[in-house]
Amino acid sequence: MRLKDKVAVVTGGGSGIGEGICLELAKQGAKVAVTDINKEGAERVANAIKENDGIASAYKLDVTDMKNIKEVGSLIKKEFGLVDIWVNSAGISIITPFLEHTEEIWDLTMDINLKGQFLCCKEAIIQMLENGGGSIINMSSQSGKVGTNNYQAYCASKFGVIGLTQSLSKEFAKKGIKVNSICPGVVNTPMWEKQAADYGKKRNLKEDEVMDYFREKIPAHRIGTVEDIAKLVVFLSTSDSDYITGQALNVNGGDYMA
Ligand SMILES: NC(=O)c1ccc[n+]([C@@H]2O[C@H](COP(=O)([O-])OP(=O)(O)OC[C@H]3O[C@@H](n4cnc5c(N)ncnc54)[C@H](O)[C@@H]3O)[C@@H](O)[C@H]2O)c1
Repeated sequence: MRLKDKVAVVTGGGSGIGEGICLELAKQGAKVAVTDINKEGAERVANAIKENDGIASAYKLDVTDMKNIKEVGSLIKKEFGLVDIWVNSAGISIITPFLEHTEEIWDLTMDINLKGQFLCCKEAIIQMLENGGGSIINMSSQSGKVGTNNYQAYCASKFGVIGLTQSLSKEFAKKGIKVNSICPGVVNTPMWEKQAADYGKKRNLKEDEVMDYFREKIPAHRIGTVEDIAKLVVFLSTSDSDYITGQALNVNGGDYMA
């Protein structure tokens, strides 16, 4: 119970990595606001936490809508108290060759993956300043450190997350607010179920060969799990990591090292 009574908000908490993070934070005693644009997903995860005697509530939250973020932020404050931990996991991923990469794909990806984190950090920082400190964890990606073909907007958005994280960490370190990003490699989530076929096309692989390709390529010879990411989130949420801020931490089985 390393996070007993801490208040945690997770965006994109209704699926995949965000879901794994909500479950792990709750296991460590945090009160978890499970937020997602998909309210059903958020409710499913919050119910799973409550069935295991944890504390959680589900909220519908669209990370591209500042008014919605402010309203949900004040509801969470009323229900649980000021936020200690804010995890930005909401995101989308679209793989297409550049000449088919439309302006709409660019705008949508930037709005959710980058502007969404900027807007959510505003609410997080306002509450953490009042609370005397806190920890913000922004989900970047291995694709936030190294570009890869057919992934233009996604890579740009995830590089941007690292810049946003570094800038905020410098401004708020003296206020006791840590801001870090996590750069997962491949983690098997619903995101990959949706995009494996498109990824396969760029490597001449069939959809069902994509995960075997990664297993072979990754030095640890396995795909990442949501728990691999969630355990780092717990560490970054505790005082054990108080001297770590502005970092972009790789969790990728040794696939990329910089
Ligand atoms: N899965 C991977 O291999 C991988 C690798 C690196 C980084 N990431 C990043 O991790 C994060 C989570 O990815 P995942 O694999 O769990 O994906 P996922 O598709 O399983 O979950 C993403 C969640 O974000 C939510 N979401 C989408 N748009 C939203 C919006 N406007 N407002 C609020 N919520 C919204 C979705 O409803 C969904 O529940 C993303 O930021 C992703 O880019 C994933």
